[in-house]
Amino acid sequence: MKYTLITGASRGIGEAMARYCAAKKFNLILVARSREKLFELAYKLNEEYDVDVQVYVADLTEAEAPQKIYNWCVENKFHVNMLINNVGIGQYGRFEDLTLKAQLDLIQLNQIQTVTMTHQFLPMLKEHYESYILNVASTASYQPIPYMSVYAATQSFILSFTLALREELRHKHVKVSCLCPGPTATDFFDRAGLESLPVNSSEIKMSSEEVAEVAIEGMLDNVSEIIPGTSNTIGAYFSKLFPNKWVLRTVAGLFAPKV
Ligand SMILES: NC(=O)c1ccc[n+]([C@@H]2O[C@H](COP(=O)([O-])OP(=O)(O)OC[C@H]3O[C@@H](n4cnc5c(N)ncnc54)[C@H](OP(=O)(O)O)[C@@H]3O)[C@@H](O)[C@H]2O)c1
Repeated sequence: MKYTLITGASRGIGEAMARYCAAKKFNLILVARSREKLFELAYKLNEEYDVDVQVYVADLTEAEAPQKIYNWCVENKFHVNMLINNVGIGQYGRFEDLTLKAQLDLIQLNQIQTVTMTHQFLPMLKEHYESYILNVASTASYQPIPYMSVYAATQSFILSFTLALREELRHKHVKVSCLCPGPTATDFFDRAGLESLPVNSSEIKMSSEEVAEVAIEGMLDNVSEIIPGTSNTIGAYFSKLFPNKWVLRTVAGLFAPKV
């Protein structure tokens, strides 16, 4: 049976993508750490949409997790034809004030995990007549962000990696896309320590359901960079258009800690 594997599927954008995929009758493999949430979601999606939903509980900061997930899929004959590398966390603060360990863990989760999962699953994806990789980055991909320096760098990495891989696989039947959401109403902001910033305004946030629909339809349409929402698309465009120095100063103003 074919499966769509989604990392970071227990809540937020990952959960919304799981729901949207289930409604499209895709069988699912849900990966995250929260066992109860994952099994509850799997039960609901199975009941509501009559799709097969499997759960793999893992801490994806552990380097060997992708190999273990892959082996489990092979043992159980779960043929993954859509890989959605959604897992990711943010971290707000001055580079020198955040611990090195926390920042290296963030690189491991956001960046190394995406590369490892993709490398691990690519041979399986290539076995299908048509298959998909959706890597989740952010509008943070389009410019450096002072006070979120490592997070924004990981997002630029994901976008660059994804677009290069897409080109390498252009003549194969694996379609590769990058999702670059802007502010979205999930737990991400609170967990990243961004509660008190203007970017945390509920007025500018999209819902995770809106983002999920644009993401999955964009992936199926083989769109290279999927940016949900007009204002996010315009923002990304301006970041490319204006000089780096000007963009950086503007962004620094938005993200600077209150003194
Ligand atoms: N929300 C936004 O404004 C926004 C904007 C741009 C880009 N994004 C990107 O969108 C993606 C999803 O973010 P979100 O907003 O949905 O965040 P979220 O609501 O905080 O969800 C994060 C998901 O990742 C899982 N996760 C976190 N650490 C993990 C770990 N060590 N091992 C395994 N799973 C882990 C969480 O589940 P457990 O805690 O159960 O493990 C959860 O399912 C991220 O890549 C983020 O960078 C978000």
